[in-house]
Amino acid sequence: MSNVVKIFDTTLRDGEQAPGCSMNVEEKLKVAHQLEKLGVNIIEAGFPIASEGDFNSVKLISKEIKKCEVAGLCRANIQDIDRAWEAIKYAKNPRIHTFIATSDIHLKHKLKKTRDEVLEIISQAVKHSARYTSNVEFSCEDATRTEIDFLCRAISIAIQSGATTINIPDTVGYTVPSEFGSIIRNLRENVDAINNVTISVHCHNDLGLAVANSLVAIKEGARQVECTINGLGERAGNASLEEIVMALKVRNDRNPFKTRIKTKQIYPTSRLVSNVTGVLVQPNKAIVGANAFAHEAGIHQDGVLKESITYEIMKPSEVGIPSNRIVLGKHSGRHAFKDKLTEFGYKLSDENFEIAFIKFKELCDKKKYVFDEDIEALINEEFVRSGDFYKLGSLECLSGTEKKPRATVKIIIDGSEKKVEEFGDGPIDSVFKAISKAVDVFPMLDSYSVASITGGMDAQAEVSVTIKDQGFLARGKGSSTDVIVASARAFVNALNNLRWRKNHPKITAPKGV
Ligand code: KIV
Ligand code: ZN
Repeated sequence: MSNVVKIFDTTLRDGEQAPGCSMNVEEKLKVAHQLEKLGVNIIEAGFPIASEGDFNSVKLISKEIKKCEVAGLCRANIQDIDRAWEAIKYAKNPRIHTFIATSDIHLKHKLKKTRDEVLEIISQAVKHSARYTSNVEFSCEDATRTEIDFLCRAISIAIQSGATTINIPDTVGYTVPSEFGSIIRNLRENVDAINNVTISVHCHNDLGLAVANSLVAIKEGARQVECTINGLGERAGNASLEEIVMALKVRNDRNPFKTRIKTKQIYPTSRLVSNVTGVLVQPNKAIVGANAFAHEAGIHQDGVLKESITYEIMKPSEVGIPSNRIVLGKHSGRHAFKDKLTEFGYKLSDENFEIAFIKFKELCDKKKYVFDEDIEALINEEFVRSGDFYKLGSLECLSGTEKKPRATVKIIIDGSEKKVEEFGDGPIDSVFKAISKAVDVFPMLDSYSVASITGGMDAQAEVSVTIKDQGFLARGKGSSTDVIVASARAFVNALNNLRWRKNHPKITAPKGV
């Protein structure tokens, strides 16, 4: 049996199902290009029947991505499968990913179908998919709560009908490593022809076991893992790509398996996904969190300075984390700035490069030391998010112990400018109220958090906000050396995402037939 494990990235599908996590078509395409650079084998680009936006992004990604297979998710019915095929058929190697639940809990309460009816649906759906392509993946939703003999029958029928990848999802993150390992072993021992297909696993993290469960499944013969960048996904998320890949790499003595991931692209991918979704990475997140390589205790610092292996099991550079060195400053010229952008992998048009360079010089006037992270934030602020309907023109805010906070904002709405003044309980409240009044949208502020991008009194602030309106949840991020400006940018970014969400409603969660 081969020791190569395929990485199936579902950041753009299951990842996007995380609450408030929305990406527009251009943003999804940027993430897809970065996933290609990272070296994933399969990109699950979306759920084409879910919305017009999903359909268009899957189609565009299929046309543009050359080095990865592109998968489209569909329920086990003709209409879904046809729609998925319409979107993915342009890909160099398209994959239909069809699914139906197999657990008695789902059959009884959700599908209201008998086991025999579900087996018939599997057979029809997989046969229909196989008429389009031989690259068909079938998933038994809620596999880990499915009675094992029925799971074997469902998988047998899927293989007989033409499935070439069989995915075993732990949909509700319920299983534990010992149990999941024996499920995979059982399938390999009891399902005819299972060795002719690829076994895949798809673990959710409700008990914090998604990565451990995925690793044990690989040991038992799974050769595809489904995962997401930063562990994004429904509820507690999916197995995190960076954790699985680095567990296989760092502990290759115990996990003698290979992936084709270029690990130096892990951190840039994590940052891009965080920036386009507005979902901050928790500081203590393994591999990509801000503290993943920070040594606080004196004894640890001393050890690392003497020999990094004392307290570091991998080098930050292996996963592409830039060293926190001073990179550029007031006196750096165009050449140095361009070299730095190339090092990060950013390709800007000449016009955008000039804009970025002016912004960089402005930043140098405000900050004595400009770090890699500052440049990354600058590029994200200007160029990563795209297609903005609302833009922050200018902002003025007055507040103090003796003053009622007051903000004046100029907002550009689809090209025309609107100026509004508002009072608030605090400076940020007055800014958010003024922006809301200008765009005539009054969402509830669900969460607000601020972090500093680097150390130092002149560090840039990175603000993240979540807003709710008419049942829609949206996130936004903004950065600046001024925390009020960063907050305004985050709020405007969230309003753009909210607008996108409202204009591209999805059908209810992709569960069921
Ligand atoms: O969690 C799950 O079961 C899924 C399937 C659609 C693969 O996301
Ligand atoms: Zn899932």
